[in-house]
Amino acid sequence: MKRIIIAIDGFSSCGKSTMAKALARNIGYLYFDSGAMYRATALYCMQNGLIAEGAIDTESLRTRIKEINITFGVDPDTKNSITFLNGRNVEHEIRSLEVSRLVSQVAALDFVREEMVNRQREMGKAKGIVMDGRDIGTTVFPNAEMKIFVTASAEVRALRRYDELTARGDKADYNEILENVLQRDHLDQTREVSPLKRADDALLLDNSNLTREEQMEWLIEQFKKLTGQC
Ligand code: CDP
Repeated sequence: MKRIIIAIDGFSSCGKSTMAKALARNIGYLYFDSGAMYRATALYCMQNGLIAEGAIDTESLRTRIKEINITFGVDPDTKNSITFLNGRNVEHEIRSLEVSRLVSQVAALDFVREEMVNRQREMGKAKGIVMDGRDIGTTVFPNAEMKIFVTASAEVRALRRYDELTARGDKADYNEILENVLQRDHLDQTREVSPLKRADDALLLDNSNLTREEQMEWLIEQFKKLTGQC
């Protein structure tokens, strides 16, 4: 059976990860969260004194980038994917608002992107993967057989992130989150290296008014059309 690469890109907090994970599970593919790699790199900077007055010490980060080991695993109880930073489970920490505030700055650095993109390509070598992010269909896997570009209104996205944070017991402020969503949209779209943009051959999915079930139905339909299988 032909195995393909599925690239899911889009704005922050669109529910890309949830969607990508569920799709991978449904079709028996591996799921990779490229955003978690940038988040883990931002956390590494925070925990290793590489931030001074809100700015990243880029030269130190450049010399230490190879020391940042990021791996993925699966929680045996919840079956959710877990991100490890140098062997430590950081899945919870990398989703904090502090990391969200820093991550787009880290992700805009050319040498960080080069390193992460190389690692991501390595993960896709065997095909049969779903990867989500900002530049998967444009830069990481421009030849991906299936590309989806997801969008939803900023307000809907901020509410989803708010629900996610409060559901896990974290304190959250809707307006602060909305501001962060808008700021990251701006940074992601205007950065010089691999800005967030829809690949010409990506299918557009606006999920503002779609339930998870409707969305999955649509994704499976696209997958079947492209591969003639399921
Ligand atoms: O979960 P959410 O969609 O809000 O973000 P994420 O996928 O965890 O990614 C966090 C941040 O990493 C984004 O805002 C981007 O700045 C950056 N990122 C990127 O530049 N390229 C990627 N392939 C994935 C994420």
